[in-house]
Amino acid sequence: MSKLKLAIASDHAGTNLKSYLISELKEVEFTDFGTQSTESVDYPDYAAKACQSVLEGKVERAILVCGTGIGMSIAANKIPGIRAAHVESVFTAQLSGEHNLANVLCLGERVTGTGHALMMVRAWLNSKFESRHQKRLDKITALEK
Ligand code: RB5
Repeated sequence: MSKLKLAIASDHAGTNLKSYLISELKEVEFTDFGTQSTESVDYPDYAAKACQSVLEGKVERAILVCGTGIGMSIAANKIPGIRAAHVESVFTAQLSGEHNLANVLCLGERVTGTGHALMMVRAWLNSKFESRHQKRLDKITALEK
C-alpha cells in the first residue's frame, strides 16, 4: 500500500519537533519544506510553501510547527482553501478532522511534549470527517470570496 503523503514545515522554533515527527511517523511519506536549522526565519514563508503543496494536490495534508503553533495557523488560514487547526490536545486534534476537515495541523514545539504531539497527529490523521458539518465548511469557503 502506498504511503500517505504529507507536507511538513517549521520555523527555527519548530525544527526539533518536526524532525521527531518525521522519524516517528514511518507510515507517512513526508515532503519537508524546512527550515533545517535554528537560525531565525519567518514562519509565514514556510507555511506558504507547505500549504501550496496541499492546494496543488502534491500531498494530502500538511503539518506546521512553530514555537506556539499560533503564528503558523494565522498565516496558513490566510490562504484560501486551507483549514488550519492549531491544537494542544488530542481531543481538539480529533475534532479538527471530524468537524472541520482541517487539512493543516499546527503544533507548538515550545508548548507540547513530543509524545503528546505524536498522539495529536495520529488522532488527526485517523479522524473521519462527519458530513453533517459540510454546510459550515461551505460557509467558510464563501467567506474567502
Ligand atoms: C519565533 O520566535 C516564534 O514567534 C514563532 O515560532 C511562533 O511561536 C509564532 O507564533
